[in-house]
Amino acid sequence: MPKDPDTTPTAGPRHVAIIMDGNGRWAQARGRPRLFGHHAGARRVREVVEACPRLGIKYLTIFAFSTENWKRTQVEVAGLMSLFRRYITKETKTLKENGIRVRFIGDRVRLDAKLTELMDTLEHETEQNDLVHLTVALNYGGRDEVARATKRLARDVAKGVLRPEDVDEETLPKYLDTRVLPDPDLVIRTSGEARISNFLLWQSAYSEYEFSDTLWPDFTAAELERLCRSYGARERRFGAVPA
Ligand code: FPP
Repeated sequence: MPKDPDTTPTAGPRHVAIIMDGNGRWAQARGRPRLFGHHAGARRVREVVEACPRLGIKYLTIFAFSTENWKRTQVEVAGLMSLFRRYITKETKTLKENGIRVRFIGDRVRLDAKLTELMDTLEHETEQNDLVHLTVALNYGGRDEVARATKRLARDVAKGVLRPEDVDEETLPKYLDTRVLPDPDLVIRTSGEARISNFLLWQSAYSEYEFSDTLWPDFTAAELERLCRSYGARERRFGAVPA
């Protein structure tokens, strides 16, 4: 059974997760290379993070790079990695001073050493913060996360720390990358595509979804606010019958 179902119709989402899609098309529409769109998209991240406290969003999780994104051209992948390094270097001080706690989820094994070092530092520098918990999914895939969690769980079984008969719905989430986070209340995908693309598969079992036609570099705090209001008007049932 899901824990603590919140069916209050007016409550805004506490945890919002966003699939930031449409950077490439935004750039192409302007006759510019795809990376131009990713840079514009990165600037939108700041506006959205800044809007969170006002909107009552305590947890924001953003999909920055998927386990499938390695299939893009070498130029685009290298450009994105360089963008992540620059973004972290540039934003660490502001994030720290503004009460944002940053975490990364995903498999770090394939990421370069310089980037993972910057990620570790940013996590460490902001670990005392509690205003907004920003989680960046980087080399993240929901299936990959469940597979890695299962491997860790199996190791505990092999070590005798865990009995197979004790494995239930509460056990697996403790091995996921998101183990310290609540499940997302609202998942937003921009750019008019209605797919979840391997994002937070386990965690979004009871999430509400909003699909926006806006390309990510055009997404604004005002649109986020509108989507949060629309969420507040919904009744979440978690499989139950309304009271
Ligand atoms: C999807 O658009 C976007 C990505 C794969 C990258 C998301 C990255 C950012 C917004 C950059 C900044 C992030 C951080 C954390 C600094 P797409 O390229 O698939 O667009 P398309 O569908 O129009 O081709």
